[in-house]
Amino acid sequence: MKDNKKIILSGIQPSGTLCIGNYLGAIKNWVDLQHDYDSIFVVVDMHAITLRQNPAELRKRCLSFAAQFIACGIDPKLSSIFVQSHVSAHAELAWVLNCFTYMGELNRMTQFKDKSKKNNANINAGLFTYPILMASDILLYQADLVPVGADQKQHLELARNIAERFNNEYSPTFKIPEPYIPNRGARIMSLQSPKSKMSKSDENENNFIGLLDNEKTILKKIKRSVTDSGSEVNYQNGGEGLKNLINIYSLFSGEKIELIEEKYKNQGYKEFKDGLTEVIIESLKPIQKKYHSLIDEKSYLEKILNEGSTNAMYRSRKTIQKVYRKIGFPQFKS
Ligand code: AMP
Ligand code: TRP
Repeated sequence: MKDNKKIILSGIQPSGTLCIGNYLGAIKNWVDLQHDYDSIFVVVDMHAITLRQNPAELRKRCLSFAAQFIACGIDPKLSSIFVQSHVSAHAELAWVLNCFTYMGELNRMTQFKDKSKKNNANINAGLFTYPILMASDILLYQADLVPVGADQKQHLELARNIAERFNNEYSPTFKIPEPYIPNRGARIMSLQSPKSKMSKSDENENNFIGLLDNEKTILKKIKRSVTDSGSEVNYQNGGEGLKNLINIYSLFSGEKIELIEEKYKNQGYKEFKDGLTEVIIESLKPIQKKYHSLIDEKSYLEKILNEGSTNAMYRSRKTIQKVYRKIGFPQFKS
C-alpha cells in the first residue's frame, strides 16, 4: 500500500533544544501529513557536526530528539525515524552531488553567511557544503514533498536545481521535490528579539520556549517576552513582538486571530500573556508526559531507530546504485 503513496522527508539537527519554532514550523505538519504520505523523518547528526558538538551530548540528543518526535505524535508504525549517520548512502551521495554543485550556488546560501558570521573561528568546509548533504537526504529517498520552516526554502531550491542538473546530464534519476511550507507557523520569531527567528540553538534561552520547558520556565519566558509600547491586543496595529505572540497563541489553541482579539478586548498585555502561558503549557503537557514515559525506554527507542535505518538503507541503496551506474562507476556481480 505504501508504494502508491507520495513520499515526504524531513530532518532536524540534534543540536540545541527542540523549541516551539521547530514544532509549529515543522513537526506539527509532519504529524498531520504522516497519515497520507509514506513518511521519513531523520535525526541529522551528520549536519550537526558542522558546528562543534560535545560527543556525549550529541549521542544523548539523538535519542532524545527521536523520543520528542514520537512524543509530538510521529507514529513509528506509520513513519520511519532514523539517525542519518546510520545510513552511509547519505555521505556517498553527498560526495557525488558535490561534483554537481557550483561554488557560486553555495556562496549565495544565507544560512551559510549567517552561521559563518556567528562562528568565525570555525568556518569549515562542511558548513559550506551542508546544503549538498541536505539535498542528498532528500533525493536519496525520491521525496515528493519536504515539510520545513521558511528558513529552509533556499536549501530546497538548491536541491531541486542539483536534481534537475543531474537528470538533464544523464536521464531522469531523481524526483524533483517540492517544499511544504505552512502558511502560518513557518517563521516563529524570537521572544526577546522578534526581528530574528526563534532558534533552538540561541545562546539566550529566554529567546525560545523548549518543548520540554517546565511551567515555571514558560511563565517566566512569556512574561519577559517583548511586546509593544501600546497596550491593545490587536494584530494589525501590533509590532513584531505582539504579532508573534498572537500567532503562537492562535497556532496552539486553534483559535482564529479575531477571536483572540475579541477575548482580550478590554484587557491588557498581562492578561493576554497569562492566557498565552496557559495555552502553551496545556499544549505541551501531553507531549512532555509522553516524552518522559519514553525517554527511559532506551531499548524501545533503539529498536524504532534500527528498524528505521534498516528500511532507509534498503531504499537509499536503490538510488545510490542507480546514480553510480549512470555516472560510470563499475559495478560487479558478487
Ligand atoms: P533547525 O532548528 O534549524 O534544525 O530546524 C529544524 C526544522 O524546524 C526546519 O524545518 C526549520 O525550518 C524549522 N524551524 C526552525 N526554527 C523555526 C522557526 N523559528 N519557525 C518555524 N520553523 C522553524
Ligand atoms: N537543514 C535543515 C535545518 O537546518 C535540516 C535538514 C537536514 C533537513 N536535512 C534535511 C530538512 C532534509 C529537510 C530535509 O533545519
